[in-house]
Amino acid sequence: MEKTNIGVLGAGTMGAGIAQVAAQSGHATVLVDVNAEQLQKAKAGIEKVLARLVEKGTKTEAEKTEILGRLTYASSIADFVDCGMVIEAIVEKIEVKHSVFKEMEAVVSEDCILASNTSSLSIASIGSVLKNPSRIIGIHFFNPAPLMPLVEIIPAVQTSEEVLSSAKTIIDSWKKITVVCKDTPGFIVNRVARPFYGEALRIYEEGVADFATIDWAMTHIGGFRMGPFTLMDYIGNDINYTVTETVFAAFYYDPRFKPSFTQKRHSEAGFLGRKTGRGYYNYAEGSTLPEPVKDEVLGRQIFERIIVMLINEAFDALFLNVASRKDIDLAMTNGVNYPKGLLAWADDLGLPFVLEKLEALFAEYGEDRYRPNVLLRRMVVAN
Ligand SMILES: NC(=O)c1ccc[n+]([C@@H]2O[C@H](COP(=O)([O-])OP(=O)(O)OC[C@H]3O[C@@H](n4cnc5c(N)ncnc54)[C@H](O)[C@@H]3O)[C@@H](O)[C@H]2O)c1
Repeated sequence: MEKTNIGVLGAGTMGAGIAQVAAQSGHATVLVDVNAEQLQKAKAGIEKVLARLVEKGTKTEAEKTEILGRLTYASSIADFVDCGMVIEAIVEKIEVKHSVFKEMEAVVSEDCILASNTSSLSIASIGSVLKNPSRIIGIHFFNPAPLMPLVEIIPAVQTSEEVLSSAKTIIDSWKKITVVCKDTPGFIVNRVARPFYGEALRIYEEGVADFATIDWAMTHIGGFRMGPFTLMDYIGNDINYTVTETVFAAFYYDPRFKPSFTQKRHSEAGFLGRKTGRGYYNYAEGSTLPEPVKDEVLGRQIFERIIVMLINEAFDALFLNVASRKDIDLAMTNGVNYPKGLLAWADDLGLPFVLEKLEALFAEYGEDRYRPNVLLRRMVVAN
């Protein structure tokens, strides 16, 4: 069967990666950007990546030629005319998205799916400007799109069953791990992962331990690939802080998601992480990373405090039907490389243990952020 043509709007970090994945999966793909320089950069980038895959023996020269032959680059939305699905990956501004979605609908066929790769805007709002809003859907890739296996599929309240099912079938055929989630702030990953950063920052602010010790606790005891501060330095403190602030505001300022002054000040100071040579750690040439305090008892306390907060968040997402149990765990293992799904982790630790920890924190601090989720409580009661 002939594969549907794919359009990608925006040739930045995400758009270029998504277009590469679509072309590698056998679709004729058109990548559109208003900025000619950006388009050229994306083209050169994709060609370089494929050349490297040939060098490594992952792809043959003939395959590379075929993939590159499926890609076209254009500057106008009019070039989406033959597409069966278009994925938008432009600036994260609702007015700009509204304007391009109206423009795209005027060009494409009646049954073309219109998708957004937005990280933080509501899919319902993006779709509201369409004449046929049942064709809107969120298709959220992770960076870098060709390497990260997870894709969150987000039907809006307007999305039809057919559009959800077709979009999921297409992305599944790209050998991605798809999870379906409700159109709620942060979707699965950017919501459930918040305590990994937030609780680590809070522990630091209380003076319990320094950055290196908290990172050591999470990698050495928790088995995470990277500690929270190392990871924030990778992501960039500006970006990570903005995600937290956006999620906080979108949840009507639920104190569970409160951002941290430590991160805000690092961000304001230009200590953004690896990209500026300094974040929580100093990456300047000749500098050495600080040594953690390798105290197993302290490390265990830090790990347990962060992991129960993460598990509580996963329970909240499950309780409010943001996604299925299976999809919540798949999202965290494939979107942010957690060593284990959080709900499976809860079973391993024992639900009564997790509840007890949260209750002790809640009793000690009297702060809403430590309030145990009601589903967790019910499951413990029901044994
Ligand atoms: N960067 C990430 O890690 C990441 C991850 C998941 C999702 N997202 C989402 O993906 C989207 C794009 O993010 P990015 O990081 O790739 O951004 P980016 O800044 O790297 O790229 C955006 C591109 O869109 C182009 N553009 C802007 N307005 C346009 C218009 N009207 N028509 C055509 N092209 C236009 C720009 O020229 C630029 O090339 C955002 O919605 C973001 O929330 C980003």
